[in-house]
Amino acid sequence: MKNINPIPASWVTPESVYLSRRQWLKAMVAAGLLSSPTVRAAYTFNSQPNPAYGRGWKLTEAKHVLNYNNFYELGPKKTDPAENAHLLPLEPWSVRVEGECERPRTFTMEALLRFPIEQRIYRFRCVEGWSFVAPWDGFELRRLLQQVRPTSRAKFVVFESIYAPDRLPMQRLPLLSWPYTEGLRIDEAMHPLTLLAVGLYGRPLAGQNGAPIRLVVPWKYGFKSAKSIVRIRLVEKMPMTTWVKEAPHEYGFYANVNPDVPHPRWSQQRERPLGSWFKSRKTELFNGYGDQVAHLYRGMDLRKWF
Ligand code: MTE
Repeated sequence: MKNINPIPASWVTPESVYLSRRQWLKAMVAAGLLSSPTVRAAYTFNSQPNPAYGRGWKLTEAKHVLNYNNFYELGPKKTDPAENAHLLPLEPWSVRVEGECERPRTFTMEALLRFPIEQRIYRFRCVEGWSFVAPWDGFELRRLLQQVRPTSRAKFVVFESIYAPDRLPMQRLPLLSWPYTEGLRIDEAMHPLTLLAVGLYGRPLAGQNGAPIRLVVPWKYGFKSAKSIVRIRLVEKMPMTTWVKEAPHEYGFYANVNPDVPHPRWSQQRERPLGSWFKSRKTELFNGYGDQVAHLYRGMDLRKWF
């Protein structure tokens, strides 16, 4: 089955009309007459479901995945990102890929959408204890990295999210060190499970979920999955990342899902599937992806390298 995405209003409606419609919608939201409208990136893609991932799993209802988010650029509360998604300046968007590679390059959104996009159902586990199962539309990060030809010195990959303090008021506050930065070891980045996602539930990513392009690394805690990425850098040394800088005793660089390594302030043994009130699910090592990724960490002490 093919997922054909509806063309966003901004492509078929004159700007003056959709802007006033947006203002009208905002007024309705402010008056409490509507819940906030979903602001999506303006692109279309075709994606083929890949049945090798998540076959038979029960999906989390989309409304939960779209309305309970962490995206500090759009606010610190779980409901802020959906409410403030309209602040993200989505067009034009490009991703600069540089550093230790032979062919550094800027990929426009159009170029990114030419990678082979497929739909995969993944489990997602936040370090704070909630989890969900959702279909992402995206392509393997390794396809993009192969195009820039990493050199032998490329040992790590750094992901930088949008930095636009003029548009994103949160970035004028020292809430986190901006831009939001994450990293992976090169073999983790090259792993076929590691996706650059452009869609969720068959539609272009909503602002709150990291439009127009974000990382998804399903065996790691959600904070590794940087949203609204503008720069990818290949580097030789393990980079400093946002949450390691913020609280190194609480968040490690690897951040592999591991029920046996508690967060200093809470246990990681169980998780709360979004839509449920209880921690009804047992958390699995590597979020259940151990058969595919455990070999990456052979011989490593996962308590030390948490
Ligand atoms: N990326 C950016 N740029 N800023 C953020 O605050 N939060 C992270 C991650 N990526 C974050 C981010 C955290 S803590 C989580 S759990 C996931 O995004 C949440 O992804 P979701 O809202 O799509 O579920």
